[in-house]
Amino acid sequence: MPTSEVLLDGTHDPRQLRNALGRFSTGVTVITTRAPSGKREGLTANSFSALSLSPPLVLWSLVSKSASLPGFLAAGHFAIHVLASNQADISHRFATPSADKFAGLAVEEGLDGAPLLSDVLAVFECSTERSLEAGDHVLFIGQVRRIRYADGDPLIFNAGRYCTALPMRSPTAESDLDAVWDGLG
Ligand SMILES: Cc1cc2nc3c(=O)[nH]c(=O)nc-3n(C[C@H](O)[C@H](O)[C@H](O)COP(=O)(O)O)c2cc1C
Repeated sequence: MPTSEVLLDGTHDPRQLRNALGRFSTGVTVITTRAPSGKREGLTANSFSALSLSPPLVLWSLVSKSASLPGFLAAGHFAIHVLASNQADISHRFATPSADKFAGLAVEEGLDGAPLLSDVLAVFECSTERSLEAGDHVLFIGQVRRIRYADGDPLIFNAGRYCTALPMRSPTAESDLDAVWDGLG
């Protein structure tokens, strides 16, 4: 398999780092909040990750130059929506700067007034536990206050493209992963 190797010495092409990071497939989320001004903010993010089970903590990061950063910092809460495989259009909408990304969308009001999207695979309503500047992003750690989840196929982001997931059919894939997770909890 041909492999690229790049020394990150400040003269490298930033696309090389993006290429390497893109080898790590993720789900796709939309993260929303309601700023104290009442303005609804939201963006597509694949930096979401589980952090702690007890207490229940999750994390994600927002690029510092984002128009929605002041709103997320002031709100002190956010709602993370895990998108289903038929929601690439929602991902595109919330990844595109706009005065009102929610225009024409049916939303429900969540805890602290965060706008909640419908028909997603999971929702994590959080209060901001901590935010910290890290490089060109701000890291948000959230304490999860309420969850919702449903069955369905996830939207996947891999190598800069939307994909769908196919379960593997092999003895290794069907081994008892539940036991591993139970050991962590
Ligand atoms: C699949 C995907 C994942 C993304 N993940 C992030 C992310 O984790 N953090 C981030 O700041 N921007 C991320 N973006 C880019 C933002 O969605 C986009 O820049 C958005 O317009 C930022 O919101 P703003 O317009 O309010 O600044 C992602 C975009 C896509 C398509």
